[in-house]
Amino acid sequence: MVNYRKDIKSLAVIGSGTMGRGIVLTCAAAGKKVYMIDINMDILNAALEGIKINLKSFINEKVMTQAEVDATIANIILSDKYDVLKDVDFVLEAVPEVPAIKEAVYKEAQKYAPADVVIASNTSGTPITKLGKYFDNPGRMVGMHWWNPAHITPVVEMINGDESDPEAMDVTVELTKAVGRYPVVVKRDVPGFLGNRLLYAFMREALWCYENGVASAEDIDMMVKAGFAFKFPVLGPMQILDMAGLDIFSNVSSYLYNQLDNSTEPSEFIKQRVADGKLGIKSGQGFYEYKKEELPAMFGKRNKLMIALLKSQGWLEEK
Ligand SMILES: NC(=O)c1ccc[n+]([C@@H]2O[C@H](COP(=O)([O-])OP(=O)(O)OC[C@H]3O[C@@H](n4cnc5c(N)ncnc54)[C@H](O)[C@@H]3O)[C@@H](O)[C@H]2O)c1
Repeated sequence: MVNYRKDIKSLAVIGSGTMGRGIVLTCAAAGKKVYMIDINMDILNAALEGIKINLKSFINEKVMTQAEVDATIANIILSDKYDVLKDVDFVLEAVPEVPAIKEAVYKEAQKYAPADVVIASNTSGTPITKLGKYFDNPGRMVGMHWWNPAHITPVVEMINGDESDPEAMDVTVELTKAVGRYPVVVKRDVPGFLGNRLLYAFMREALWCYENGVASAEDIDMMVKAGFAFKFPVLGPMQILDMAGLDIFSNVSSYLYNQLDNSTEPSEFIKQRVADGKLGIKSGQGFYEYKKEELPAMFGKRNKLMIALLKSQGWLEEK
């Protein structure tokens, strides 16, 4: 049995994109020394600028002081080399969902990361069991799936691969708590893990309602935001079932389940949208239109509202 390092003072986050930079910010703010690794220094410097913008929004919302922001930035070390993995207590991979890229990164991790260091992946799509095969000891591999925006979202899914060592999972759970996040343990390596299984079942039905003329995009969004999702930060689905009563739920399910969408493929509508390049924010048009110059204000407002929600739940404290 491997005696994995438990006292995580430093870690490496490989990949400084959408997810990596948010994870780096969170861990560095919690006092960890974080090596942020990417393929070149231009990409890394751009990622650091992105981190600084998000830290500024934390100052504006009074959840960090300037001194804490300075200490956070001082904890981040940029590197375009993998040999720094020799010096860390934990490794988290957050590179694109491209098998050849993941494989190349894991070969480097196998080469440099000490054998008593846990390796985690932020993958949302690849089975953890498959990723473990890249290592001499597959037991050191676990899933550590952060949610976007990673510098704000409180939960992190912890996924057990078929061969993950319980001790490697314990280390990952403790690290997650130490950086101020809420670990949710996914006991089995099922596709979509836990969060995306729930989310995609829900999205499929929302799209069915839109495509079949039940309601507009605006009204579907409002139904969720001001309707049943309004209580989600306070009550999860299992609690809601208990509150409603399982007898009521069983009764409604008996006539509603067979009316719900059970497609096993993306709809023709979605495929056509993708073919037309209507991809959402990134292409300027999805269900809504987006102007590039309005995006910073839009994301700023999103951050502000989410931080206010976190404060109201006691998940973030005002300084
Ligand atoms: N974007 C999301 O909402 C989201 C949410 C949860 C999980 N994930 C998962 O997180 C992982 C990363 O996703 P992302 O959205 O941050 O991707 P991204 O494309 O925004 O960023 C990936 C980063 O990895 C870097 N990279 C590429 N090859 C590399 C290499 N060989 N070595 C080091 N760095 C390399 C890229 O330069 C880029 O900066 C994926 O597995 C994805 O499935 C994404």
